[in-house]
Amino acid sequence: MPKQEGRVAIYPGSFDPITLGHLDLIERCSKLTDKVIVAILRNEDKQPLFTVEERMEMLDEVIRAYPNVSVDSFDGLLVDYASERGATMILRGIRALTDYEYELPMALMNRRLRPEIETIFLMAGEAYAFISSRLVKEVIRLGGNISGLVPPTVEVRLKNRILGERA
Ligand code: PNS
Repeated sequence: MPKQEGRVAIYPGSFDPITLGHLDLIERCSKLTDKVIVAILRNEDKQPLFTVEERMEMLDEVIRAYPNVSVDSFDGLLVDYASERGATMILRGIRALTDYEYELPMALMNRRLRPEIETIFLMAGEAYAFISSRLVKEVIRLGGNISGLVPPTVEVRLKNRILGERA
């Protein structure tokens, strides 16, 4: 494991796109650890709305306020990537019971693969517990209002991508 200064947490996910729920988690984790790396999975199977590079740009724009947070992408096993980056923690958020059911096998598998890396769960902020990237995209596609659910820069990009394509 490479030498790293302090405690490093990896916050992995699709972030297609980042929501205010994700950002709340990033902010809270940044206070608990020395460094947070938000890591986007490069997944060829999924059909994302935004490319990995676009998602990284959006994340870069919103994490500027947090000096100990950076953005990266990865493929392959998450725990191997975490180990390469000198991380000892994987951060995930829990909103409802369904999240727990999705997260538990991943956390246990990751622990089996590399027991030295802990998965840390933070409960979603109560104001954000209903937000998901999938629902945000659905609402905007159907003409609903998504302000207050994603950062303003992301709202602009979503409107351009989804509504702009129709114009
Ligand atoms: O935001 P998402 O899409 O729910 O994030 C899922 C993610 C990226 C955390 C998960 O798919 C993942 O860790 N993928 C990497 C592949 C891996 O390590 N798989 C085996 C352990 S479960």
